[in-house]
Amino acid sequence: MEELIRLSSQLHLVFIILLIILIAFNLYLLKSDKTFLKLSKRLELIAPQYYIVLSAIFFTGIIVMAVRQFAFSFSVWVMIVVWIAIVAFGIRGHKMYKKIERTEVSQSAYKRYAIKKYTLDFIALIATSALFYLVH
Ligand code: HEM
Repeated sequence: MEELIRLSSQLHLVFIILLIILIAFNLYLLKSDKTFLKLSKRLELIAPQYYIVLSAIFFTGIIVMAVRQFAFSFSVWVMIVVWIAIVAFGIRGHKMYKKIERTEVSQSAYKRYAIKKYTLDFIALIATSALFYLVH
């Protein structure tokens, strides 16, 4: 049992690190000097990976919770709230993306939103992980 808990929480951590790498890649693309057409093609290519990794974080979190008989600690509540917020703002970003017009103003408004969103995702991931290690 201890082995299962260890393995799933290690996997949980691996997916969090993967998400941080994807955030860094997204930010790098958004800050690069590409034309919006090129940029949007690349962003569309990595968007599914982002949500696959997010679901893997949820899935491995649920496994750890299940083997610990669903004991909700404060840090686990924070993790769940942060996860929901990342997904919710992601949906909002996707809606914005679908409504982008071929104007500079509209495209740079989206870029600004996406940069802010990924930066906040990064801060939330680090803060949530730091909270867990501070409490434990
Ligand atoms: C995206 C946000 C999340 C972050 C940044 C995060 C971060 C972490 C970290 C750093 C650990 C410690 C891993 C270790 O050292 O073994 C952990 C453990 C854990 N996470 Fe998450 N997690 C997130 C989302 C979730 C979700 C959505 C769930 C549940 C559905 C969850 C459930 C758990 C559980 C149950 C543990 C073990 C707690 C314990 O050992 O007391 N996490 N998480």
